[in-house]
Amino acid sequence: MLSDKTVVITGGARGIGREIALKMADAGANIALVDVCRREEMEETRMQAAALGSQALAYQCAVEDEAQVIAVTKEIASAFGRVDILVNNAGITKDNLLLRMSAEDFSRVLDVNLQGAFHFIRHLVRQIMRSPAGRIINISSVVGLRGNFGQVNYAASKAGLIGLTKSVAREFAGKSVTCNAIAPGFIETAMTSTLPEQALENLRASIPLGRPGRADEVAALALFLASPEAAYITGEVIRIDGGMAM
Ligand code: NAI
Repeated sequence: MLSDKTVVITGGARGIGREIALKMADAGANIALVDVCRREEMEETRMQAAALGSQALAYQCAVEDEAQVIAVTKEIASAFGRVDILVNNAGITKDNLLLRMSAEDFSRVLDVNLQGAFHFIRHLVRQIMRSPAGRIINISSVVGLRGNFGQVNYAASKAGLIGLTKSVAREFAGKSVTCNAIAPGFIETAMTSTLPEQALENLRASIPLGRPGRADEVAALALFLASPEAAYITGEVIRIDGGMAM
């Protein structure tokens, strides 16, 4: 389905990013993984993607650092010769109640989650425009749609990604590049494993389907948005949350 296509996935070392990399590799794509650290996890993901027959390379880069993004996107373009699909998945949380949140923690989450996506789009979109089926997929969150207690920074970054998605969709539609956002609900990954048991219990109780989601379920949606079947979908935000935010 994606043979000969090159996919760039930020935050690709583990969690949802890893599952997206493996689904896309399984569909025949070549994979450029980008992550800030987690060398061992990224190498494990790279080897798993390569075992599926994909050309897979790993790049260390902090998405919020434009100089690093410029260097890495150049390396990727020259190693693969093309970029067709970008998945902006790298993300962090620094939760606190607004009155206790430092300006530094507010900015840090915006820088990684929102500005990181801006940098990657800006420095790869010329490559993506050359693809016959360019795709940009931004991993937002249901928290960006409805806010969340203790997450003003994260919610603002994920809501910002939705505005970014719709604007990019409009700007590049003329070049047949689609840009969509995925808004996951509660997905079981390392990011959510540190939540206190009571918070986890409350979350589960708020999900009509009665269970947390899995990273591979989010990856299946990303694969669909990357596929030829999704060519007529752009500027959309798709929730994958077991009904949590309906
Ligand atoms: P995770 O923590 O397992 O993975 C995030 C990855 O991003 C890690 O490999 C991390 O090293 C990388 N990363 C962090 N900061 C970075 C930076 N500055 N530069 C480059 N890479 C960086 O988290 P998970 O759960 O897989 O989340 C992936 C995305 O999905 C995030 O954007 C998250 O906000 C979003 N999401 C997750 C949900 C969940 O319930 N797990 C729900 C809704 C959205």
